[in-house]
Amino acid sequence: MTDIASSTTTPAARLTGWDSIEFWVGNARAMAGFLTGAFGFRVTAYSGPETGVPDKASYLLEQGKIRLVVTSGLTPESEIWSHVRTHGDGAHDLAFVVDDATATYEAAIGRGARPVDEPYELTDEHGVLRLSSVGTYGETKHTFVDRRDYHGYYCPGFQRDGLPPEPVGPKVGLVDIDHVVGNVEEGRLDEWVAFYEDVMGFGQLRSFDETQISTEFSALRSTVVWNGNNIVMPLNEPAEGKRKSQIQEYIDTYRGPGVQHLAFRTGDIVQAISSLRARGVRFLEANAAYFTDVRDRLGFLDLPWEDLQRLGILVDHEPDGHLLQLFTEPVTDRPTVFIEIIQRGGARGFGEGNFKALFESIEREQNRRGNL
Ligand code: FE2
Repeated sequence: MTDIASSTTTPAARLTGWDSIEFWVGNARAMAGFLTGAFGFRVTAYSGPETGVPDKASYLLEQGKIRLVVTSGLTPESEIWSHVRTHGDGAHDLAFVVDDATATYEAAIGRGARPVDEPYELTDEHGVLRLSSVGTYGETKHTFVDRRDYHGYYCPGFQRDGLPPEPVGPKVGLVDIDHVVGNVEEGRLDEWVAFYEDVMGFGQLRSFDETQISTEFSALRSTVVWNGNNIVMPLNEPAEGKRKSQIQEYIDTYRGPGVQHLAFRTGDIVQAISSLRARGVRFLEANAAYFTDVRDRLGFLDLPWEDLQRLGILVDHEPDGHLLQLFTEPVTDRPTVFIEIIQRGGARGFGEGNFKALFESIEREQNRRGNL
């Protein structure tokens, strides 16, 4: 326990699960088009000047239980534009469902969180939505969303009329947010882990250092924090290697800490990757030796090996079971945030057995950008 936790008797806030993840981007209409066309999301609500919100445009995108919001500013003085100017497109708000936005906010502030938005209400004919936010790494924030007295579709100011048409494409089948990963400054991982433990009431799920996560060139340290249930947030920091760590490349490019990747879970990764590839999504490709090696090590698992190899899907195994995963290229112009597709077959890990293959693949791209 640190000073923060021991200095207060306020119990930590209880977070029920993910509410939504909001990206601040340069062109929300284009990003919404990309996420629908390439990733199979549906636009389910819109807010902007037509709905009485004059200074920004937001699209709500849904697939399974996943809710993303992409927002851009409509005036030069918008805070969204200054965020985009510094960071490029990025995930700005990781929002959680709570029972009471005020009590959660007060618990977090009482335990040392940085205030961002004091508790406030948004109201329309469907009721009252109560919200508050605190800061986390970099300029990223956590919004606490209390939906108990709101019966509208998503949020006051959003409407469901006149939405963009749904692009045609094969079903992708993403069902939920599996985990959301943050990159933090070198030397500050322990501080951010303590923030999630002491302020947010999270626990540690597992932890790796550079002896477990390194390639010839690059290294990182990682600790996974979680709420004990459905909110799982690995945190990475760069570690000293022969060349620049990919985590340091992110921090240099994003101009600070931020969200590195969102992992979406599917029940059928063969269908998901096959559809995503058909829709034009580009993935980080493992090198040619990967499948020879992984089939040598894990060939005893009853898996559709031909499909996995054809689609480039990575396989990992732990005592509890296996997992299948694949990582996209960055989805923004700066090499920052990317998406992971994951199917779990009992394993609760994050693909540690694949980290080396993944990192070598990232480093090939890093080298092409002149950043290795
Ligand atoms: Fe991941």
